[in-house]
Amino acid sequence: MCSTCGTHHPKWTGQCTGCGEWNTLVEEVVSSGGDQPVAPVGPGSRPVPIGEVDAIAGEPRPTGIAEFDRVLSGGLVPGSVTLVGGEPGIGKSTLLLQVAHSWSGPVLYVCAEESAQQVRHRAERLGSTSESLWLLPETNLGSALAAIEEVSPTLMIVDSVQTVADPSLPSAAGSVAQVRAVTQRLVAEAKRRDLPVVLVGHVTKEGDLAGPRVLEHLVDTVITFEGERHHALRLVRAVKHRFGSTNDLSVFEMTGDGLRGVADPSHLFLADRRVGVAGSVVTPTLEGRRPIVVEIQALTTPAPPGVPARRTSQGVDQARLALLLAVLNRHAGLPVHEHDVYVSTVGGVRLTEPGVDLAIALAIVSAIVDRPLPSGLAVFGEVGLGGEIRQASRPDRRLAEAERLGFDRILVPERTPSDDASSRLVRVEDIAAALAAADLIV
Ligand code: TYD
Ligand code: MG
Repeated sequence: MCSTCGTHHPKWTGQCTGCGEWNTLVEEVVSSGGDQPVAPVGPGSRPVPIGEVDAIAGEPRPTGIAEFDRVLSGGLVPGSVTLVGGEPGIGKSTLLLQVAHSWSGPVLYVCAEESAQQVRHRAERLGSTSESLWLLPETNLGSALAAIEEVSPTLMIVDSVQTVADPSLPSAAGSVAQVRAVTQRLVAEAKRRDLPVVLVGHVTKEGDLAGPRVLEHLVDTVITFEGERHHALRLVRAVKHRFGSTNDLSVFEMTGDGLRGVADPSHLFLADRRVGVAGSVVTPTLEGRRPIVVEIQALTTPAPPGVPARRTSQGVDQARLALLLAVLNRHAGLPVHEHDVYVSTVGGVRLTEPGVDLAIALAIVSAIVDRPLPSGLAVFGEVGLGGEIRQASRPDRRLAEAERLGFDRILVPERTPSDDASSRLVRVEDIAAALAAADLIV
């Protein structure tokens, strides 16, 4: 079985035909009895008319951490299973311990990776040794299920799902079959008891949730942690959410006493900014529904002759960068092949929406011509292949956020709808007009 995508193969091969990954096939022993029977979902599993379904029972329960509730669209839904993924050391256990502390009602925390003492030390550091928090240092699924009987929790946390195993299965702990079986069992248990369950999942070095993508199909909600480990900022997103939108983003700061929600991320992103530096451009981006003002930086150096110029990006898609360089070359006449180009977002944030295109393009040009943008200028807009500046979603929110942070001139796509007739908005039709408006033509 491929440990990345879960595709079955009758024999070993070097490359998985399912996902194209190399060296990901692992042997799984398939028991002759077929799949283990999954516990019945409970006595209530009969067809019901949709109007008679109890809507109140499915309401999310707030975790008590307001910033986390934002990404969960209100809280944890009873009977739901939430998978929290992220690199080691990013703060998954910290956040869940804080959730366990502020949750009202008994919580069962299965710490399969750490000893109870370690968790207690961390809890003391966070000031959260709550009476109703029960620790179970166990890797055996059976013991974890038995503990549910004993504690009758209203929230169960399993840290991490890869380290918990069902010894009655022939495959090794952490293998695809084990992780899937454990998850299936916990999902059934959650549904049967109307118990919200939170699973911690490791990620692979490529950033996918470890091993089986199949896990993502089994659970109701998938939450991922982003951010650089050496930077205090943590972005928490929902990549899948059956009970709400995947549009919301939570921003936390790792402090000496745990994760603290950041109410005003734009301020934080701009905190270290030096104005009047070439290659720096500020753009209001939209993370789902939330506008955030971020800084994009570019650095260019002359490329040595005879070798292809370097293009390195952090937080910006490499293909997008290549496209913007091609547009600058073709429609602004910029000799981009003569420069090595480095582009980076500040604070480890990953920008994926096209509304930041114009900011990236202007940062590159500003770096090449070695001239800063006028102070107080922010920009947004998508750059098309024809060099045209296209509209970005929700310009009203972007403008409001940029203005709130004191940017008094904003380059926007030509046809941005706005009832604001003031001179703050500078409408630009194409990349050449944008360069002129940003004072970047030499
Ligand atoms: P942790 O929650 O253990 O990460 P994960 O479970 O995702 O692997 O986070 C560990 C990191 O967070 C570690 O480098 C120490 C740091 N940390 C703080 O900075 N402040 C704190 O209050 C705590 C508990 C941890
Ligand atoms: Mg941990």
